[in-house]
Amino acid sequence: MAKQKADFTKSASLGISSVNLPPLAIGTWRLGHSHETEKEAIRLAIDKGINFIDTAEIYHTEKLVGEAIKGHDNVFVATKVSPANFHHDDVLKACDRSLANLGVKAIDLYQLHWPNNRVPIRETMLAMEDLVDKGKVKHIGVSNFSIEELQEAQEAMRLQSIVSNQIEMSVLVRDAENGMLEYCKENNILVLAYSPFSEGLLFKKYPKTLKLLEGIGKRYNKTAAQVALNWLLMHDNVIPIVQMGRKEHVLENLGALDFKLNEDDMTLIGSNPEKRRSNEQRWGWLTKNTSFWASLMGRSYGKKDR
Ligand SMILES: NC(=O)c1ccc[n+]([C@@H]2O[C@H](COP(=O)([O-])OP(=O)(O)OC[C@H]3O[C@@H](n4cnc5c(N)ncnc54)[C@H](OP(=O)(O)O)[C@@H]3O)[C@@H](O)[C@H]2O)c1
Repeated sequence: MAKQKADFTKSASLGISSVNLPPLAIGTWRLGHSHETEKEAIRLAIDKGINFIDTAEIYHTEKLVGEAIKGHDNVFVATKVSPANFHHDDVLKACDRSLANLGVKAIDLYQLHWPNNRVPIRETMLAMEDLVDKGKVKHIGVSNFSIEELQEAQEAMRLQSIVSNQIEMSVLVRDAENGMLEYCKENNILVLAYSPFSEGLLFKKYPKTLKLLEGIGKRYNKTAAQVALNWLLMHDNVIPIVQMGRKEHVLENLGALDFKLNEDDMTLIGSNPEKRRSNEQRWGWLTKNTSFWASLMGRSYGKKDR
């Protein structure tokens, strides 16, 4: 089968803004256990052009990110406010904490981490707009929002536009195909696809899918990880966020950028019957409130906090 030359060196654009982003973003959820190795991996990714990094106040990795990016100009930093802090003044305070942790003057993309049905969305979105007015936030995004929730959040704002929705999407988790991808494309909302390897479980718990990806990869001289990322990259308006806490994973994942899966292989992966229930399907009923997130906030998950 003929190999296609990739053009993923092209950047994706961030919503209606004029910002160009690299084709991949660096995830940091489960980092914080091996600081020096992880910082080296982040710096390698940045040096290789992956200058987009995602964190969240709840991850306890903002300080680590701040240390890793120190001295690097031109890194696009995304973080998230926890739904425990969705009341107006709490959003402002959370942002100040994140700015201090990250050591930056402004957050490039500030995202609502998850919907919270207990706080009026207007209150939260107006606080986000206040942060843009103050110059502390450059762009507003959301995460794990449904189409309806996206519409409500957008309508709640006076001037700003939601530029991105960060959602779970991978060869195993395919909820986004039920209208979300089309909606985001039509409305200039960038899709940030999180957990592209299903938190690494793709390599451990899904042997059938892994075998499929490995088989396809042989035709391109690529690994299963590279095929899984390339499948996401082949979707318009989607940037995968992948955690890579080790240099060897950074280098392997960069190898996802220089080829293109052909249509037959896209279809083969697209029709793979093995699926994983998304975070939203598993936890959505439990999570859309303040107390759930407040209970998570204090936990460090054994991470070495600075
Ligand atoms: N908004 C949300 O609610 C939400 C939820 C989940 C995740 N996220 C974001 O999305 C990011 C990525 O998702 P994720 O961390 O859940 O999982 P993921 O990126 O799907 O998988 C990460 C795991 O895969 C490993 N890995 C990376 N490259 C690999 C390769 N080439 N071969 C084999 N293993 C590889 C990583 O190991 P090493 O780290 O050791 O390299 C890590 O164990 C998060 O870090 C976070 O920024 C957001």
